[in-house]
Amino acid sequence: MCGIVAYKGNKDCHPILLDGLKRLEYRGYDSAGIACLFDSKISITKRAGKVKELQEAINTKKISKDFSTIGISHTRWATHGEPNHKNAHPHIDQSKKITLVHNGIIENYNSIKKFLLSKKIQFKSDTDTEVLVQLIGYFYNQGKLSFEESVRAALQRVDGAYGIVVLNIDFPEMMIAARKGSPLVLGLKQGEFFIASDISPIIKHTKKIIYLNEGEMIVINKEKYEIKSVNKNLVLPKKIETIDIKIDDLEKGNFDYFMHKEIHEQSDTILNTFRGRALKDDILLSGLSDYWKDIKNADRIYITACGTSWHAGLIGKKLIEKFARVPVHVEYASEFRYNTSLINKKTIVIGISQSGETADTLAAINKAKDVGALTIGICNVAGSSISRITDCGVFTRCGHEIGVASTKAFTGQISVLYLFALKLAYSKRTISKLSLVNHIKDEYDLVKRIKSVLMMEDTIKKIAVKYKEASGFLYLGRGLNFPIALEGALKLKEISYIHAEGYPAAEMKHGPIALIDKNMPTVFIVPKDRTYHKILSNIEEIKSRKGKVIVITNHKSKTLESLSDDLIVLPKTNSYLFLILATIVLQLFAFFIAVAKGCDVDQPRNLAKSVTVE
Ligand code: F6R
Repeated sequence: MCGIVAYKGNKDCHPILLDGLKRLEYRGYDSAGIACLFDSKISITKRAGKVKELQEAINTKKISKDFSTIGISHTRWATHGEPNHKNAHPHIDQSKKITLVHNGIIENYNSIKKFLLSKKIQFKSDTDTEVLVQLIGYFYNQGKLSFEESVRAALQRVDGAYGIVVLNIDFPEMMIAARKGSPLVLGLKQGEFFIASDISPIIKHTKKIIYLNEGEMIVINKEKYEIKSVNKNLVLPKKIETIDIKIDDLEKGNFDYFMHKEIHEQSDTILNTFRGRALKDDILLSGLSDYWKDIKNADRIYITACGTSWHAGLIGKKLIEKFARVPVHVEYASEFRYNTSLINKKTIVIGISQSGETADTLAAINKAKDVGALTIGICNVAGSSISRITDCGVFTRCGHEIGVASTKAFTGQISVLYLFALKLAYSKRTISKLSLVNHIKDEYDLVKRIKSVLMMEDTIKKIAVKYKEASGFLYLGRGLNFPIALEGALKLKEISYIHAEGYPAAEMKHGPIALIDKNMPTVFIVPKDRTYHKILSNIEEIKSRKGKVIVITNHKSKTLESLSDDLIVLPKTNSYLFLILATIVLQLFAFFIAVAKGCDVDQPRNLAKSVTVE
């Protein structure tokens, strides 16, 4: 949700900022802009649309590309104000001395705006962000506060979330950044500083990183930096971390789309999730070890998350209840944070998040912490806010996920939840050692099966292309595969803009069946388990209404062959792992439909990867 990149050093900032913005574009792509300090003035270039437009503007003769060693930049996902030129960041104050980029929402912007209007300050945009830069400018131009004090004074008056970087023409060697709710990282190199919303724009330049915590600010002046508290002028000791990510992990490699690459990475990413954790006859989740006694004795578990991660939560519920027999409630984080949740000190709250920055999930976890519940994070991004505020956690180890539609992170989350459920079950002796050993064996076999599913992609592509003109889709599954139906439908909607609904297969006759006609195909997920024959009846019900049927199964039968218009037969696995293979088919199916329709798969309209606003 908006990406920020800033640079201060000894090189021209433009190529560094543009390259960084491209890497952060998954966070928002409505407009982009750069401000740099040049020849005692602030030079701002911005464009509506993607970073490509900004780059072209900077490269054209009309806009001079000023050599400047200090600059800030932004790629926007619009919240307040249309995604046009005037609302694009960076914004500048009335005195034209101060410029700022912002990720987040200033909730009390209306009252601050009224105050500033009464002081004869005129606004140029419809954004909440402009209020913040004007407020900093207002304090600074009164002449009583220093630049740093003015930023601090303004931040103390705003409610809401922010990650900001600010420049002031009077202090061409200074850069100030601060965070509350929206992430920021500082990259350090001899004589150079990089600030960004995440590490992806930085790791090309340095591996030395400082993650900013809530309520902290960075003050860079000449060759020095200090991390301080926003509330007090107090220098905080901070650890410099060395990150272990290769730049290749952030490139598309031989693929045209990040999403396609990330789907194909799943045999490796799932192996990474299991490796060192699924041992021969035990499961080791070292991130939870210190708290395992409490986890084992919990009488209830809440899982909270958003979107795809919430779908993983639904599967987690079924796995934990099945194996460990502990009741699990799954709630959307945006609901959890306002519902009367019955959590207490004996409740475990698991927050699932790829990015670890989703505002609603963060708020839900904070609510759980407030009542003393033990919080567990299942995150992909190390160093992210959720991974740091939870008491303990397990990383999904999927590597950077850049495609806006989540793929490898989802199967990583399911894999972690599977390990968690088995470990809990074995600790509580609700499964035997033999059963544990068999499950662990199946997990490693799964990796081979994933490879063979990925090799079926030409078949999946042919089927997908056939249905690209469909008016809508139903996705149906039962039990563990109902959340997979929801996830398949979500993938299709978000990247191809075709409406799709996921339902429990038997629920279809209570309403959705009314939608069925020859233009509304149904995707059935049909594992060979005790629901197999029941689902065959559901398929008959669709067929008799002239609906087209696409079946994903691990058990081919004559009946299934005759009932389906298209049949995808997967390798045999246990029914808990079948759902991962079915997911991969649905990811590829959505991907190929979207590509066939000419959609921008990696950057679907209106979406952003990390939703850091409520
Ligand atoms: C869908 C998708 C979103 C995210 C959701 C939560 O493909 O990516 O629905 O799953 O925004 O994001 P995280 O997992 O980062 O908390």
